[in-house]
Amino acid sequence: MDINHLKSIFEREYGVTSRPLLYFFAPGRVNLIGGHMDYNGGYVFPAALSLGIYGVLRLRTDQLIHLKSTNVSLTFTVDLKKPILYNIQDGWGNYPKGVIKYLLKSGFSLGGYDILFSGNLPDGAGLSSSAAILVLTAFMLRYAIGDQDIDRSILAAFCQRVENEFIKVNCGIMDHFAIAMGREDHAIILDCETLNYKYIPFILGEYCLLIMNTNKKRELAESKYNKRRSECEEALHIIRQHHSLKSLCQALPIDVETYIADEVLRRRVYHVMSENNRVLRAMELLKNGDIMGFGLLMAESHRSLKDHYEVTGRELDSIVDNALKTTGCIGARMTGAGFGGCGIALVERGRMEEFKSTVNRGYQEDTGLMPDFYVANIVDGVKTVEC
Ligand code: GLA
Repeated sequence: MDINHLKSIFEREYGVTSRPLLYFFAPGRVNLIGGHMDYNGGYVFPAALSLGIYGVLRLRTDQLIHLKSTNVSLTFTVDLKKPILYNIQDGWGNYPKGVIKYLLKSGFSLGGYDILFSGNLPDGAGLSSSAAILVLTAFMLRYAIGDQDIDRSILAAFCQRVENEFIKVNCGIMDHFAIAMGREDHAIILDCETLNYKYIPFILGEYCLLIMNTNKKRELAESKYNKRRSECEEALHIIRQHHSLKSLCQALPIDVETYIADEVLRRRVYHVMSENNRVLRAMELLKNGDIMGFGLLMAESHRSLKDHYEVTGRELDSIVDNALKTTGCIGARMTGAGFGGCGIALVERGRMEEFKSTVNRGYQEDTGLMPDFYVANIVDGVKTVEC
């Protein structure tokens, strides 16, 4: 993104004043492996992407926060002297509104600002555009009030709370954490129970990470997502009637066999137990430079999300199947919540173009949809940007 271009859009929208402009960037994220583990107290393995959202901010002299985006035509004004309420008509604007409301609730004293967002992160594609806008808004406003040494994991938990309570999406912490804490060329192994984490170099040698957008929007994703959460809570509750268990990913096969009669719940727990184990194995393989082994686990993870957790759907299955049978691809899986959105694949660098056209053809034949492909770098978490 050309920052000078962003500056001229900002000044066209809000006018020119002598007050300085501040620039920020929040990345999107992919989860390399560890699907639906965060709210089950397990391990996830995400990384922050060079695709993301830029934010520009300038202080006003009143108590109004104006919000505009170059990506959507809706614009909003939040009056800091009035109650801030969720309003379905406000669409994406509810995310920054929620952040403003919760910052005020937490005792931060905010001024009025003009804010412009502009990004290249596809919406509803499972790359966490919602978490990116939450983390970006919170970071920008905290930075603007002089709070420049922010504890990023606390910032992530704050944004998760806004999403859970204000937006009413019962998501886990992974997305906000990856966006706040990302590190260039590293993936993050995060224990979602304790929030202990480690950075693992993401070195792929002759392979690269390709993002494959099914262009199937995640309709109804939230309600099915919440359904999976409640199924897991139910399974945990059943096992806990027999012995104590911190989280579902600590369940053992014997717990499932002995205590869980329902076939659907059994499959859900089976995914959770096996995926947690896969994340740890995948991390070790990556550390040892075994990219092939890592790729095999990605494919295994997708199968489990498809057969046991049932969150993939026709489009994700088609794009992943087409990827896996194309020469040069050593692993592929869905990323994010599923039900549409994006898959990821590890592809030999030299075969990238051939890979894209083969998958493009196969996927279109299966679904009638046109996919998009992105090669993204792994970057730092939310940050200020120099003009
Ligand atoms: C969404 C949620 C995350 C996580 C993933 C599934 O991205 O926001 O918290 O649960 O789905 O791994």
